[in-house]
Amino acid sequence: MGNQSPIGIFDSGVGGLTVVKSLLELLPGESFIYFGDTANVPYGSKTREQLMSYAISILNFLRTKEVKAVVAACGTHSSLTLPQLEGHYPFPMLGVVKAGSRSAIQVSKNSRIGVLATQATVNSQAYTQAIKAINPECQVFERACHQFVPLIEGGVLSGEKINQSVREYVAPLLDNRIDTLVLGCTHYPFLTQPIKEFVGADVELVDPSRGTIEELRELLTMDDLLEQSGQEPLRQFYVSGHDESFFRVGRLLLGDMIGKVNKLEG
Ligand code: DGL
Repeated sequence: MGNQSPIGIFDSGVGGLTVVKSLLELLPGESFIYFGDTANVPYGSKTREQLMSYAISILNFLRTKEVKAVVAACGTHSSLTLPQLEGHYPFPMLGVVKAGSRSAIQVSKNSRIGVLATQATVNSQAYTQAIKAINPECQVFERACHQFVPLIEGGVLSGEKINQSVREYVAPLLDNRIDTLVLGCTHYPFLTQPIKEFVGADVELVDPSRGTIEELRELLTMDDLLEQSGQEPLRQFYVSGHDESFFRVGRLLLGDMIGKVNKLEG
């Protein structure tokens, strides 16, 4: 493992591509291997034990690729499995919750923060704890959004069904007078436009991806692992299940960067 080794990034499906987008903006020279666990999507309805077994298989796979760091580009894993797995692999790992929480606190003026996330993330209260650990004065209102991930994985990013779900999930948070809304599942930035239209100009949306990659940059700098050779980066995509929808929806976000999607058997 060295400066030119790839970064491992994983999620249940296309959600982590929102983190890849920030990686391409902030660290364009870095190689990466993306793993979409499409055989097990959605993660939000899974138990901690199930998620732990998925995380271990994915991390074992990424270890065979000699990654120099891993980003759990997934709010659910960042909340439920990462805290227990950190330190057990020969590479550093980071998730999206800390960065998302920090950004929300920076943005909020009234310290009333809403979080949209999966059911598993909401049950874990990871965002509430991370935000309150930084600023105990903050009030955090979390809300699970069951319908978003299946719709996004199916390529539905706008229209009446989306608008209806946005209303259902976000209206109660507006009643709580939030001024900041964290998109606490990495799939949700795909819905930035309909959510923004619903909340209006008075509520700031926070996508944790950028802060996560800034954190990654600090970590790689500290460990002297930043890519500096200027060589063409390697970018590979793997999935455990459906590859066609990953390819189709992934292209909506990243364009023809997603050329080949490798399907892992078993
Ligand atoms: N994108 C993931 C997250 O951030 C997983 C969503 C899911 O599969 O339910 O939580």
